[in-house]
Amino acid sequence: MSLTTSQITMKYGEKLILDQLNIKIPEGKITVFLGSNGCGKSTLLRSMARLLNPEAGTIVLDGKNIHQMSTKKLAKQLAILPQSPTAPSGLTVLELVKQGRYCYQSFLRQWSKVDEEKVIQALQETHMEEYKDVPIDSLSGGQKQRAWIAMTLAQDTNTILLDEPTTYLDVTHQIEILDLLFELNEKEDRTIIMVLHDINLACRYAHHIVALKDKKVFVEGKPEDVISPEMIQQVFDLKCKVVFDPIFFTPMCIPTGKGRRIERKELNHVIV
Ligand SMILES: Nc1ncnc2c1ncn2[C@@H]1O[C@H](COP(=O)(O)OP(=O)(O)OP(=O)(O)O)[C@@H](O)[C@H]1O
Ligand SMILES: [Mg+2]
Repeated sequence: MSLTTSQITMKYGEKLILDQLNIKIPEGKITVFLGSNGCGKSTLLRSMARLLNPEAGTIVLDGKNIHQMSTKKLAKQLAILPQSPTAPSGLTVLELVKQGRYCYQSFLRQWSKVDEEKVIQALQETHMEEYKDVPIDSLSGGQKQRAWIAMTLAQDTNTILLDEPTTYLDVTHQIEILDLLFELNEKEDRTIIMVLHDINLACRYAHHIVALKDKKVFVEGKPEDVISPEMIQQVFDLKCKVVFDPIFFTPMCIPTGKGRRIERKELNHVIV
């Protein structure tokens, strides 16, 4: 399912955030938005899911302007996990995840076996089954995040947008969630669009990177084509070396700057 923005301009009040962006999200691929804090990544992602209205321009999903689609129709095609979402107090994990299925309900079509299956599957995939009856408020940051991801997955859409889905997650759960999204993409051709701050994980999982700077797209393309010390310097104002990831051979940024330096021989027991 194709998703494109055509000349979209985003503002908060008089403040211009994004200036006439034309972005074509590759279909059935993983796209990651990169950029420094406050550059407009969340604003872009939210506008693509119609949570914000553009000042100008259009967003087209599968040939249709998203602002001319019904809420339910859009929700069956596109799910979004916003940055730092909040749930009503007392809501349990199961109740939250079930909300992902509301777009499939109607007067004639009540809660079905398929809805039940999709909810259970989403809980299993995010390892949240054991917490299903726990109120969201009493979960840890990482568990909360997984509950929200479960809700997004239960919506069972072809296009999934996630704003920093790995924030708050320990390293095991970060990899688990990214692996799960990777699999959903590989096996089911789902289009995944996410904001990540970890450039190295972005390079490993993303087919396509869109880097934002100064209200515009600074550069976009395959990580191996766009990531370079110059690009990182310009986009993040950070000096770094770019090396190969020793497992996947995707680009890996090693920031220069300060740090403890040790003799290489001290690491001989762990380096293979
Ligand atoms: N509701 C709002 N009202 C006014 N200004 C806002 C609002 N939300 C965001 N902004 C401003 O818009 C700019 C872009 O914000 P946005 O949240 O899109 O950035 P971001 O790239 O997602 O940053 P981060 O990496 O910190 O999440 C920032 O300068 C921010 O202060
Ligand atoms: Mg953000």
